[in-house]
Amino acid sequence: MMIYGEGIRFRGIEQSDLVSFVTWLNDPEVREGLAMYLPLSMADEQDWFEDLQKRPPEERPYLIEVQQDDNTWVGVGNCGFFNINWRIRSAEVGIFIGEKRFWGRGIGTKVMRLLIQVGFDTLNLNRIRLDVYDTNPRAIRTYEKAGFVYEGRQRQGMYQNGRYVDVLQMSVLRSEWEEGNAGASRS
Ligand SMILES: CC(C)(COP(=O)(O)OP(=O)(O)OC[C@H]1O[C@@H](n2cnc3c(N)ncnc32)[C@H](O)[C@@H]1OP(=O)(O)O)[C@@H](O)C(=O)NCCC(=O)NCCS
Repeated sequence: MMIYGEGIRFRGIEQSDLVSFVTWLNDPEVREGLAMYLPLSMADEQDWFEDLQKRPPEERPYLIEVQQDDNTWVGVGNCGFFNINWRIRSAEVGIFIGEKRFWGRGIGTKVMRLLIQVGFDTLNLNRIRLDVYDTNPRAIRTYEKAGFVYEGRQRQGMYQNGRYVDVLQMSVLRSEWEEGNAGASRS
C-alpha cells in the first residue's frame, strides 16, 4: 500500500533504491543537515537495509516519490518515524530530499504535513518531535510551515565544520494539528 498526498506519495524502500541513497547521502550539501559525517559505501547501505527489516514496521522509513508532469513518479529521498513510544504516544520524525533539483518547491513541506497526518490519523500518536541544526534555515522554515513549533535548544549539541552548532527541538501536538486543520484540507 502506498500513502498518497498532493503530488507526493510514500512507499516502502526496496533493494533497488539503495544506489540512489548512496549517491544522495554522499553529497555534502544533503548531508550537512543530517547526523552522518563519514563517506557511505554500498556495503554500509546494504547493512542498513537489512537492519530495517528487523525494525517494527511503523519505524521503517518510506521512500518519497514525486509525481511529474507526465504522471510518472520519481524517488527523491526518504522520511519516516523512529523512537516511537506507544505509551506516551510520541515519536520522532526525519526527512531528507536527496534530489537537490526538488528543493525549494514546497515538497518538504508537503512531506512533513503528510507525515504528521499519518502520525496522528493512522498511528494514533499524540506528539511528534524532531531535532534540527540551527545552521539549517531551510529545514526550520519547512517544519514551521508544516505546523511544528520551537520548544527548546540543545546548546552546542552538534559539532560540524570545525564548530559547535545548536540543535533546535521542535514538535507538534495532536491538539494543535486538529485545531489548525479545523475546516481546512489536511493534505
Ligand atoms: C530540509 C528539506 C527537507 C526541505 O525541503 P524543501 O522541499 O526544500 O522545502 P520547501 O520547499 O517545502 O520549503 C523550504 C522553505 O525554506 C525557505 N528557505 C530556503 N532557504 C532558506 C534560507 N537560507 N533561509 C531561510 N529560509 C530558507 C524557502 O524559501 C521555503 O520557505 P517559503 O515557502 O516560506 O519561501 C530539504 O531541503 C532537504 O532534504 N535538505 C537536505 C537534508 C536535510 O537537511 N534534512 C533535514 C534534517 S533536520
